[in-house]
Amino acid sequence: MTSPCQEVLKRVGDLGAVPGTAGRILAALSDPRASATKVGSEISKDQGLTATVLRAANSSYYHASRQVRDLTEALVIVGYESVRDLVIGRLSRGAHSGSDPTQKILWKHALATALASQACARLVKGVTVSHAFTCGLLHDIGKAILNQAFPQEYGTVLKLSSTFADTTLEIERQRWGTDHAEVGGEVLKLWQLPPACEMTARLHHDLGAIPDLPDGQRRIVAMVALANEVASWTGRGMRPARPAAELADHPMLGVLGATRSVIDAMDAQISGEIAALEGIFG
Ligand SMILES: [Fe+2]
Ligand SMILES: [Fe+2]
Repeated sequence: MTSPCQEVLKRVGDLGAVPGTAGRILAALSDPRASATKVGSEISKDQGLTATVLRAANSSYYHASRQVRDLTEALVIVGYESVRDLVIGRLSRGAHSGSDPTQKILWKHALATALASQACARLVKGVTVSHAFTCGLLHDIGKAILNQAFPQEYGTVLKLSSTFADTTLEIERQRWGTDHAEVGGEVLKLWQLPPACEMTARLHHDLGAIPDLPDGQRRIVAMVALANEVASWTGRGMRPARPAAELADHPMLGVLGATRSVIDAMDAQISGEIAALEGIFG
């Protein structure tokens, strides 16, 4: 029997593998024997991704100091680790495509959460900055998928959940028998992204479960759960902005052994970089 979550994924179409070029590049990047030439030649087969890498190399986000037109040079400026972020960023951008206003709000929230996660990883030890960025970017991909599956209805659900005390997950489960955390987790598992990415999507709202996660997952999930709150709380989500200082007692700060100054750094990173990041992914 097909589960409600599988029904949602079927409605959206073939999500069984990371789409084409992106999958080959991610595979090449995880193969230590793969050369820069191989990665570059795979990227050059995809015009959209080539343009993204060039925009990144010319962006203030990567501290561009001169015009770069050549892909090989752009790869050197951006760096290998960031190429993975750009590939995954385009995957996530693809899931948020279309002119639907809900997708635009969700995409901005994804970018804001990625930046806040990145800022947190720079200050709190134990998680690679790039990994934090990726997991932050993908944490709500289940929302983008639900919005694709139920384009009119899902926007209404998000508005309802921003008005009433019911959480988004509860309303989603009432309507569709599944929620964006489960849908997102399943998609990232199908795409064979790192298990911590999948766990972040599944558990970013389940704050009580996070302290009991194994060492390799607890900090990254706590980081993204906090980043998600900072992004939403400061108006990069469905709700109006509230003072970030109100998050000073957030339980994930304890899990991370961090102080409230981390929240200010996360907010500042979003404000400082979100426009440049939006420019890179278009
Ligand atoms: Fe979420
Ligand atoms: Fe979120």
